[in-house]
Amino acid sequence: MLIDTFGRVARDLRVSLTDRCNLRCAYCMPPEGLEWLPGDEVLTDDEVLRVIRIAVGLGVTEIRFTGGEPLLRRGLVDIVRRTAALEPRPHISLTTNGIGLARTAQALRDAGLDRVNVSLDTLDPEKFATLARRDRLCDVLAGLEAAAAAGLTPVKVNAVMMRGVNDEEAAPLLRWCLEHGYHLRFIEQMPLDAQHGWDRATMVSADEVLARLAESFSLVPVGAEERGSAPAEEWLVDGGPGRVGVIGSVTRPFCGTCDRVRLTADGQVRNCLFARDESDLRAALRSEASDEQLARLLEANLLAKRAGHGIDDPGFLQPVRPMSAIGG
Ligand code: 5AD
Ligand code: SF4
Repeated sequence: MLIDTFGRVARDLRVSLTDRCNLRCAYCMPPEGLEWLPGDEVLTDDEVLRVIRIAVGLGVTEIRFTGGEPLLRRGLVDIVRRTAALEPRPHISLTTNGIGLARTAQALRDAGLDRVNVSLDTLDPEKFATLARRDRLCDVLAGLEAAAAAGLTPVKVNAVMMRGVNDEEAAPLLRWCLEHGYHLRFIEQMPLDAQHGWDRATMVSADEVLARLAESFSLVPVGAEERGSAPAEEWLVDGGPGRVGVIGSVTRPFCGTCDRVRLTADGQVRNCLFARDESDLRAALRSEASDEQLARLLEANLLAKRAGHGIDDPGFLQPVRPMSAIGG
């Protein structure tokens, strides 16, 4: 089992398949993009599958593919198919910006993908182009529709609010998601942007989002017992069945119930988004390590997991890697 010194068990492996992206969301990347990983440093499909198989053997039950933008990974459908063939079969989900999903949703579903999370911060094409620095809102909306049609449900929508950019849009975005049957979750902006522009003082907090939503909707909290290790706190909207989630990573941290562990596209294991250390699985994979040895590396990485992200600690240092290179 992948267990840490605080008794938390890792069940959810987030696998980043590429650090590249076709958007440049302001809370994530600078306009010019980043220096991408060289191709030979990125794990091959076989290497990714081997790590997933070993993790499943250690009790991981959920595989979440992320990026960068995972739809940019050429072998994605095949990776999903091979993951779905594992015993016991893990639950398989994908976090995507939705661009290209209209084309691939059905193939991904047929390969065994269970669900998607699509990032969508605004419904205004101009604001979208400002925030993501690409005029691609239509592609994202088409992707969402295709995901729902293919049965990749519940379709979850992730939204990050940025002050002065899209923070007026919390209520309209929720109304739209409820109408379309998408499950919206607001994520507090975290200090994980490559350009180190995060500022606690201007961050739109979970409380603020809730206050804005409460102007237009009645919100009733869903019992804490339903939450488990999920990062989102949930509210029933206008008596239900519609819901909204708020992921208060900064102001309402949920590290105490964290069940996540991450594999970067270049084969480094991270026990936290904010980890300072990584375990180099790629080097082990490429030096003929046995499955047993790889399993021990994973276990040792989890044993070093800290109690919390420490964003509020005076000595907090933003991780060297940005979110796009870690996997969300
Ligand atoms: N803070 C919060 N959320 C972020 N995401 C990307 N960067 C950040 C950040 N700095 C979101 C994306 C995506 C998910 C993987 O995380 O919008 O929905
Ligand atoms: Fe791309 Fe996601 Fe970063 Fe936006 S947040 S630039 S979609 S990796």
